[in-house]
Amino acid sequence: RKEVGYITVGSEPFNELIGGGIETQSITEVFGEFGSGKSQVSHELAVTVQLPEEQGGLDAECVFIDTENTFRPERIEQIASAFGLDHQEVLQKIHIARAFNSAHQILMAEKVNELIQSGSNIKLVIVDSLMAHFRAEYIGRESLATRQQKLNQHLHTLQNIATTYNVAIFLTNQVQARPDAFFGSPTKAIGGHVLGHASTYRIWLKKGLAGKRIARLVDSPHLPEGECVFKITADGIVD
Ligand code: GTP
Repeated sequence: RKEVGYITVGSEPFNELIGGGIETQSITEVFGEFGSGKSQVSHELAVTVQLPEEQGGLDAECVFIDTENTFRPERIEQIASAFGLDHQEVLQKIHIARAFNSAHQILMAEKVNELIQSGSNIKLVIVDSLMAHFRAEYIGRESLATRQQKLNQHLHTLQNIATTYNVAIFLTNQVQARPDAFFGSPTKAIGGHVLGHASTYRIWLKKGLAGKRIARLVDSPHLPEGECVFKITADGIVD
């Protein structure tokens, strides 16, 4: 079994909360409301995975499966520049896969195997967002079983990539938090228990005061629950 690698999220308290960064061989899910920062963390990781190990990266490339057209190259440029990286080179190491529907999304994840086998040094696969297509396409109770079966298949593909090639999987998921849920647990995350069981780390992102963000680690099997505060700036994620 290969040694687990860690990718920095850009903020030390945030890294500490999740045990040192986003882990390879695991699935990490961030969920939260619109504008809570899920896509920002995704962009940050697409850059930091490329850093050398002594700076919190894995000196590697990533795949960004974009389902809602949220990928912003200009945001990558800002974050890359903040780390003193050449933004052209950084963008070349992000393999963008635009998924037009859930079947396409499933296929894109399967294709990552081929990309790695052809020699790409992929250490991170981002799916932003995991559920958008599934939620839009499978509406109503009668389609729920099919949806969960397809989702399960997709998550198995991702989990296999994680363990076979020592890759980190990072998923975003939009949820509506209850107004009274700030200190408690959020409402059921979309995806239900299929996703709940697949994710090793689940992080709930919330908007705080004065542009701050709160990350809360929930249902982690190995780490204590807890929260930390971080900021989203022009340079990306910071303490
Ligand atoms: P949805 O994708 O809409 O569900 O939300 P999300 O959780 O992915 O939100 P996203 O990651 O897109 O976060 C958007 C927020 O990030 C904005 O409201 C800003 O507060 C912040 N943000 C984005 N870009 C910048 C930037 O360049 N500078 C600063 N300071 N903040 C930014």
